[in-house]
Amino acid sequence: MLSTFIRAELSLLSALGYFGVLSMGRIVTIIGTRPEIIKMAPVVKALDALDHDHVLVHSGQHYDLMMDRIFFRDMELREPNYRFELKEQPPHLQVATTMRQVATVAKSADLVIIHGDTNTTVAGALLASKLDRPLAHVEAGIRSFDKSMPEEVNRIIADQLSNLLFAPTPVSRENLQRENVTEGVHVVGNSVIDALLQNLPIAEKRSDVLSRLGLTPGGYMILTFHRSENVDSKERLSRALVAFERAADEAGMPILFPIHPRTAKRLQEFGLEKRADEQASLRRIEPTGYLDMLILEKNAALVMTDSGGLQEESCFFRVPCVTLRENTERPETLEIGSNVLAGTDPERVRDAVRRQLDAERDWLNPYGDGTTGERIAQLVAASLG
Ligand code: UD1
Ligand code: UDP
Repeated sequence: MLSTFIRAELSLLSALGYFGVLSMGRIVTIIGTRPEIIKMAPVVKALDALDHDHVLVHSGQHYDLMMDRIFFRDMELREPNYRFELKEQPPHLQVATTMRQVATVAKSADLVIIHGDTNTTVAGALLASKLDRPLAHVEAGIRSFDKSMPEEVNRIIADQLSNLLFAPTPVSRENLQRENVTEGVHVVGNSVIDALLQNLPIAEKRSDVLSRLGLTPGGYMILTFHRSENVDSKERLSRALVAFERAADEAGMPILFPIHPRTAKRLQEFGLEKRADEQASLRRIEPTGYLDMLILEKNAALVMTDSGGLQEESCFFRVPCVTLRENTERPETLEIGSNVLAGTDPERVRDAVRRQLDAERDWLNPYGDGTTGERIAQLVAASLG
C-alpha cells in the first residue's frame, strides 16, 4: 500500500518535472564579436536543447549591423537574453565595463562559458574567477606563442582560469599540457566546422553574392585584414597595400576586400584611402554577412588573411590560404599545406601567392566533423550533473 503510494507520488513529481527543476543548472554564455557569434551559434543551439537554464549574453563589443546583427539573422540564432553596450571603448575599458555590466547575470551561474580570445573572452574569464563561478572555454589551448598579440594574452588567461577546456585539436591539448593545464581538457574539434556544415547548403540556396558582385568562380582572390599589429601602424599598413598589389599582379586577378571597420578607420586616419582607391585590382566592399562569405571563400582562387577563422574555413573549402602574419595559432593548417605564413613583405607575399596557387588541394580538414557543438553540450550537461 505504502509503496504504491510512494510510486504514485514519485511519478506525479516526475510528471511535474519536479526533479528536473531541482537538478536544473544555470549556464551563462558570453559572446560579443563577429567570430564568437559565428562559432558559438552551433554551440548555443546545442546548449539551448539541454534540460538547463541557458542565458545568452552579448557584451556589445561588436555592434554594427554588418559586424553583429547580420550573423544572428544569417545563422538563425536566437536573440541574447542580455545585450549590453560598449561602443568605441579602449581595450582596458572594454574588459572593465563588460565585467561590471555582466556581473549581475554571471553571479548566479553554475557555469560561465566563453569562446576564443577577445576582450569579451577575457572579461568573462576574469568575472567568473572573481565571482568564484566555474568556467568553460571553447577553442581552448591554441597558441601563437607571441605575447605581443592581445589575443594571445587573452587566451592564456582564459585557459588558466577555466575548469572545462574544449580544445579543438590534439595540438591545442599539448599546448595546455605545457602550461600545466591537464584537468577538464577535452579535444572536441572546432565549431567552425559545425557552422560551415549547417550553413553551407543554406548559403548555396540563398546567396547571390557572385552574380551581385560580377565575380566568376576561381577568378578572384579574397582578402581580410584587421589585426591590430597589421593595421594600427601606418608603415605596416602602407607596406601591406604594396603587397596586395604585387599579389594581384602575380595571380592576374583582382582582390575582393571586405573591409573590417578597424582597417577602414586606419586607412582614413593615416591618409591612405586615396592610395587604396587608386589600386584598381583592390576592390574594397563592406564586411559581408556569413552566408555571402561562405560562397565567396568557397569560390575564391585563394584566400589572403590575418583572420583566425578564415585560415580554418579556407582549409575546409580546400582553397589555399596565405596568412599575412609572422605566426599562427593554427599550425595544423601549415602542416597540411593549406596555409603558409607570409607576413606583409611584398616580395614574400607575392612568392607565397604563387606557391599556394600552384599547390595540390588534397589536404584533410583537421578541425573535426561538425559535431563539436553537440559534444560540448553533452560535456556541459555531464559537468552540471
Ligand atoms: C576583435 C578581437 C580580435 C578579433 C576581431 C574579430 C580583441 C582584443 N580583438 O578585434 O581578436 O579577430 O575582434 O573581428 O578583442 N568597430 C566598429 N564597429 C563594430 C566593431 C568595431 O566600427 O561593430 C571599430 C571600432 O572603431 C573599434 C574598432 O573597430 O574601436 C576595433 O574593434 P574591437 O572590437 O576593439 O577590436 P577588433 O579589431 O574588432
Ligand atoms: N566573416 C564574415 N564576413 C566578413 C569577414 C569575415 O562573415 O566580411 C566571417 C568569417 O567567415 C569567419 C569570421 O567572420 O567565420 C572570422 O571573423 P574575424 O576574421 O573577424 O575574426 P577572427 O577569426 O580573426 O578572430
